[in-house]
Amino acid sequence: MRKTRHRAGGLLGILLLGTLLALAAACTPSHPQSTFDTLGPVAREQAVVFWIIFGLGALVFVIVEGIILYAVFKYRRRPDDGDPEQIHGNNALEVTWTVIPAIILVFAAIPTLMVLYSTTISPEPPEKGGFVVEATGHQWWFEFNYPAYGVVTANEMHIPVDEVINVDLRSKDVIHSFWVPKLAGKVDMIPNNDNTLWLKAEREGEFYAQCAEFCGVSHANMRFKVVAESWEDFNAWVEAQLAEASSPVDPLAKEGEELFMSQDSYCFRCHAVRGTRLARGIIGPDLTHVASRRHLAAGLLDNTEDDSDAVSGALLQHNLREWLADPDGVKPGNIMYRDAEVYNGTVPPLTDNQIDALVAYLLTLK
Ligand code: CUA
Repeated sequence: MRKTRHRAGGLLGILLLGTLLALAAACTPSHPQSTFDTLGPVAREQAVVFWIIFGLGALVFVIVEGIILYAVFKYRRRPDDGDPEQIHGNNALEVTWTVIPAIILVFAAIPTLMVLYSTTISPEPPEKGGFVVEATGHQWWFEFNYPAYGVVTANEMHIPVDEVINVDLRSKDVIHSFWVPKLAGKVDMIPNNDNTLWLKAEREGEFYAQCAEFCGVSHANMRFKVVAESWEDFNAWVEAQLAEASSPVDPLAKEGEELFMSQDSYCFRCHAVRGTRLARGIIGPDLTHVASRRHLAAGLLDNTEDDSDAVSGALLQHNLREWLADPDGVKPGNIMYRDAEVYNGTVPPLTDNQIDALVAYLLTLK
C-alpha cells in the first residue's frame, strides 16, 4: 500500500517537473512567439517592466517563504511543550506589513506608468506625417489597410524596417486583440472605439502575430504575420499590390473566373478582386493578390518552403484546394463555411472539377 502511494507521488513529481519544463521552454528567446527576444523598442520596454515586476515578486517570495520556513522550524512543537501563549493583534507588526508592500507597489508603479506612456504615445504620430496602417479584426482574420498607398490586404502586414508604424486598431464584430510578441502588444481591437499602438521592427524578417483576446470558436486560429523589409522591398510590394487583376488566359483558370463571378459559387459577393466588374465584396478578404501571400486562412496554411520567404506555387495550389474543399476542417466555425451558399446548402456544393477551376483562377491572382 505504502509502496503504491510512494510510486504515485514520484510519478506526480515527474509530471509536475515535465509540465514546468515544457512551460519554461516556451520562454526561450529563439521561440517565434517569445516576448524575451525583443526586436523592437516597444516590446523591449514591455520586457523591462516584466523583469522589474518579476524581480520584485521573486524577492517578496524568497523573503516571505524564508520567514515562514524559519518560524516553522524554530518554533515547531516539541514533545513536552504545552499550549503556546495566545496573542491577538500587534500594531507595530501590522503597520510594518502594510507599509512595506505599499512601498514595493510604488516601485512597481513608477516604471509601469512610464512605459505605459512611452509605448502609447507614438514618437512619429500620424498628424506629423507618421506611417499609418489600419488593422481591422474580423472573426477570424485580420485586414490591413494602408490609407496613404491605397493597399488593402489580409493576414500579412508588410512594414518598412526601422520605421515607426502607427497602427489604428478596429473591429468589424467582436473584441479582438493585436499582438506581435517580438514587436509590441497586446492592445484590444474594439468595435466602434478606435485604439492605437505603435511599433518598430529593428530587423528584417517575418514575425509571428496573433489575436490575444478570446473572440469565438476559432480565436486560436486567428493569426497573422508581420513582414519587415527594406523600403525598397516594401515599395516593390506596394507597387505589386496596387496592380489590378487581369483576366486569365488559361482555359481552366478562365472557367474558374467565370464560376467565381457566377451564382453557382457566389464568391464575388463577399470577396473583392480589383479590376473585375462584379467582385467587390467586403465581407471576406480582398483576393486581388491572394497568390502573393505567404499564408492562407489567417496564417494557418503556409505557402512557403522551409528556409524560404518565396511563395511556392505547388504549396499554394495544395493549400487553396484544401481550403476550398473543407474550410471548416482548416478553420472550424469560419464565416465562409457558415454563410457561403456552396457550403451551407443553398446551392449545390462545389464539385472537384469546380474546385480545380477556382484554384487555377486564384493562382493567377499574384
Ligand atoms: Cu480575434 Cu481572438
